[in-house]
Amino acid sequence: MSLREATVADLDGIMAIERMSFLGDAWSTAVMEADIASPHTWYVVWEEGAGIRGYAGLRAPAGSADADVQTIALAADARGRGQGRALLRALLSEATRRGAREVFLDVRDDNTAAQSLYVSEGFVPIGRRPNYYPADGGVDAIVMKLELRGWVAHHARTDAAAPGQEWCT
Ligand SMILES: CC(C)(COP(=O)(O)OP(=O)(O)OC[C@H]1O[C@@H](n2cnc3c(N)ncnc32)[C@H](O)[C@@H]1OP(=O)(O)O)[C@@H](O)C(=O)NCCC(=O)NCCS
Repeated sequence: MSLREATVADLDGIMAIERMSFLGDAWSTAVMEADIASPHTWYVVWEEGAGIRGYAGLRAPAGSADADVQTIALAADARGRGQGRALLRALLSEATRRGAREVFLDVRDDNTAAQSLYVSEGFVPIGRRPNYYPADGGVDAIVMKLELRGWVAHHARTDAAAPGQEWCT
C-alpha cells in the first residue's frame, strides 16, 4: 500500500469514496475535478491492492502563508488503521514545503472522529460557521487552525526519538 500524488485520472475512484463518505454534503464531480486540476492544490491518494482507498486535498497557493485542508476521506472499511493520519500528515508536509505557515480546515460539528484526528495533530478550534453543511437540515462547521512551525518542531523531536517511523507509509 502506498501514497502517491493524485491526478484527474483518479477522479472516479475519488468520487466513489466522496459520495459514500459525505452523502448530501459531497462535492460534485465537476467541482472535484476542478479542484484536483487547480495549480493551487495538491491531492494525494492512498492505494491498496488495485484500487484507491482514500484521498486528501490541500489548497496552498504559491506565496501564501495560509493553506487549507480541502478534504480527506477513506473507504468505510479502510478506516481506523492509521491511514487518515498518514494522509493528513502528507498534506501538512506539502503545506510546509510550499512555505505555508498556518493551515485551516472546516469540520462538521458532529464529526467527532475527524475532530479527534485534527486535535491530535495540533489543530485548535478558532470559530464556528452556523448551518455551513446543508445536509441533515444544516450542521455547523467548526473552523480549526494549525501553526505549522509547531507541528514541524514536534515531529522533528518525536521522529528523532522514534527513528524508523515514517510520516507517510
Ligand atoms: C476522518 C477519517 C479520515 C480518519 O481516518 P482513519 O484512518 O479512520 O483514522 P486513523 O486510523 O488514522 O486514526 C487517527 C485518529 O483519528 C481519530 N479517530 C479515528 N477514528 C475514530 C473514531 N471512530 N472515533 C473517535 N476518534 C477516531 C483518533 O484520534 C485517531 O487516533 P488514535 O488512533 O491514536 O486514537 C476517516 O474516519 C473518514 O474517512 N471519515 C469519513 C470522511 C470524513 O469525515 N472526513 C473528514 C472531513 S472534515
